[in-house]
Amino acid sequence: VVGRCVGCKLLKHVLTTELNKGEIVGILRRAKGLMDGGSKRPLDLAGKVGVLLFDQPSTRTVASFYRAMKYLNMKALNLPLGSTSVEKGETLEATLQTLDELEYDVAVVRAVDNISTVGLNSLHVVNAGGMGYHPTQALADALTINARYNSLEEVTVNFRGDVQRSRVAQSTRALLEMFGVTTIENGPLDAAPVAYQIRQQNDQGRIMSDSDYKVAYGITDALVLQTPGLKAVMHAGPVIEGIDIDRKTLGSNLSLVKMQVRAGLFVRIALLEYLLMGEV
Ligand code: CP
Repeated sequence: VVGRCVGCKLLKHVLTTELNKGEIVGILRRAKGLMDGGSKRPLDLAGKVGVLLFDQPSTRTVASFYRAMKYLNMKALNLPLGSTSVEKGETLEATLQTLDELEYDVAVVRAVDNISTVGLNSLHVVNAGGMGYHPTQALADALTINARYNSLEEVTVNFRGDVQRSRVAQSTRALLEMFGVTTIENGPLDAAPVAYQIRQQNDQGRIMSDSDYKVAYGITDALVLQTPGLKAVMHAGPVIEGIDIDRKTLGSNLSLVKMQVRAGLFVRIALLEYLLMGEV
């Protein structure tokens, strides 16, 4: 938790692991209610403005934050960092200070550089998958497991693949473990009922060829047939189909991948409500 009270709302940034257990419970409860229609509609945040600042590729995160802002009746500006004055040498820190001065309410940032929140007065900042962390993906994954198992306790999740270099694995494991989920790393496919597949982090350099990666970690349709104890397959996306997970398994009832995408929308709505209005 950083910052000061702005209009009696605490200025908060979610960059790594700032959310405490109570806050996460509240956000997940609200997101679940929104997802299954059990709780009231998203708040009306007309007048609030968000900005999406990405300098790395994204489909799910950028599109779901944009959609979340629309659900909340916010205005949303998509401002790829490559089109900003960062290209003329301005720092990301100065860029965020400029947006703060211009009365933006929240900045969602995926950047190669570390995010600095120095000097911000009323702009909330959310890390959208940089600095080795992906906190909103972790929330989406927790919501997905909770929706499938009705609990986060007594679940064991086997993270498989290029786990050590993955921001998703880093954030999701930490959050799940906070709630009593047992996690293991690169166990055989029959080691746990939930397999969480991680793609090779090619953006950080290849550790092996795609075909070797498939042999080492891939969830093939044949392997699934030999693993009756496997109850769920997760992947934050983008899935490298046929390497990470075979097509039939990806489209089967075992796959929680689509649910993870959908959960991502509702946790982001709930997080924005919490940051901007203090409500979950
Ligand atoms: N899971 C995830 O962060 O996907 P994108 O890179 O498409 O946003």
